Amino acid sequence: MKFNITVLPGDGIGPEVTREAVEIINVLGEKYGHSFELTEEKLGGCAIDACGVPLPDKTLETCKSSHAVLLGAVGGPKWDGLPGNIRPEAGLLGIRGGLGLFANLRPAVIYSSLKEASPLRADIVRDGIDIMVVRELTGGIYFGKRGREKTPSGSEAAFDTEMYSTEEIERIARVGFESAMKRNKRLTSVDKANVLESSRLWREVVIKLSSEFPEVSLSHMYVDNAAMQLVRNPMQFDVIVTGNMFGDILSDEASMITGSIGMLPSASLGNGTLGLYEPIHGSAPDIAGQDKANPIAAILSVGMMMKYSLGLESASQDVETAVKNVLDKGYRTGDIASKGTEVIGTRAMGELIKKE
Ligand code: NAI
Ligand code: MG
Repeated sequence: MKFNITVLPGDGIGPEVTREAVEIINVLGEKYGHSFELTEEKLGGCAIDACGVPLPDKTLETCKSSHAVLLGAVGGPKWDGLPGNIRPEAGLLGIRGGLGLFANLRPAVIYSSLKEASPLRADIVRDGIDIMVVRELTGGIYFGKRGREKTPSGSEAAFDTEMYSTEEIERIARVGFESAMKRNKRLTSVDKANVLESSRLWREVVIKLSSEFPEVSLSHMYVDNAAMQLVRNPMQFDVIVTGNMFGDILSDEASMITGSIGMLPSASLGNGTLGLYEPIHGSAPDIAGQDKANPIAAILSVGMMMKYSLGLESASQDVETAVKNVLDKGYRTGDIASKGTEVIGTRAMGELIKKE
């Protein structure tokens, strides 16, 4: 089969980790006889330098006509002084919006050979952690009506509004159920239905949709309890689906319990199969250009791309297995190094994973 993939290396360590990820794409193409047509475009600071805007029209057009997009990271001190609308981050928001990507999938995985990286007690992470957080990305309180007004007594007040429509809830819940079907068929919907009306609608819609997924065992949890359960007993979770703000907070919490920012990939999906795949880390200007960056988050993003946008399950599995094998053999980049392991650079790590 033939697939078009747009590659956006971006800034800082973005190009370094993306290079390793692209090599993995090429190896998978050879192994399975697929033709991956890669087109590189500019996004972020490098686009500002070259064209004056963080998201050139050509970049967005190329992304729209591809099957999947691989992104490195954008931003850095060089562009920090620019006004908000032409900063690198504006390119990131622009591309998510421009491609209609309303679902953010963030797996938090702790590999058995990397348990020492977790800030949680050894007995809690004994059997590893493998959670998928599905976060709504384009609605809720971050996009609701907001403003400031004077109270009757004349003091200042401000408000933000959490609002979700049935359609918005249903489409993100569907991503949650489908993701659970591809994993261990357990879905936890997180809300605050004991207090918020928007959460009561959320729960109603999720329950209604569950009849389409009889194989998935669905449970509901209030967000405050979910925050607690994530550190008390993270192994109870398989897929978590939740709104924008709760998901923002819980996905950061879930990734921190794995202890390693350089290891975690993400996917942003919309209505079709087109998705954007990127590591959760930023451009890491402090280590850029030194062959120190961990390429695993970018490489695992390729694994997610194979599964969620291209429907290539075995290729996706290959990526995860290769990463696991290299870690089991004791190879580490600096960010995940510990006693008794061998510290290697970005290129060497990419090369080892490629060979697996
Ligand atoms: P960061 O994620 O770039 O770095 C945080 C710390 O983690 C640094 O010490 C860095 O060296 C380390 N780190 C990150 N990725 C690593 C990897 N793959 N291997 C080894 N170590 C790694 O976050 P920070 O420092 O807050 O932001 C730096 C720049 O990146 C900023 O301009 C920020 O706006 C941008 N950024 C971009 C994101 C994106 O493109 N999606 C996301 C987050 C930040
Ligand atoms: Mg956040």
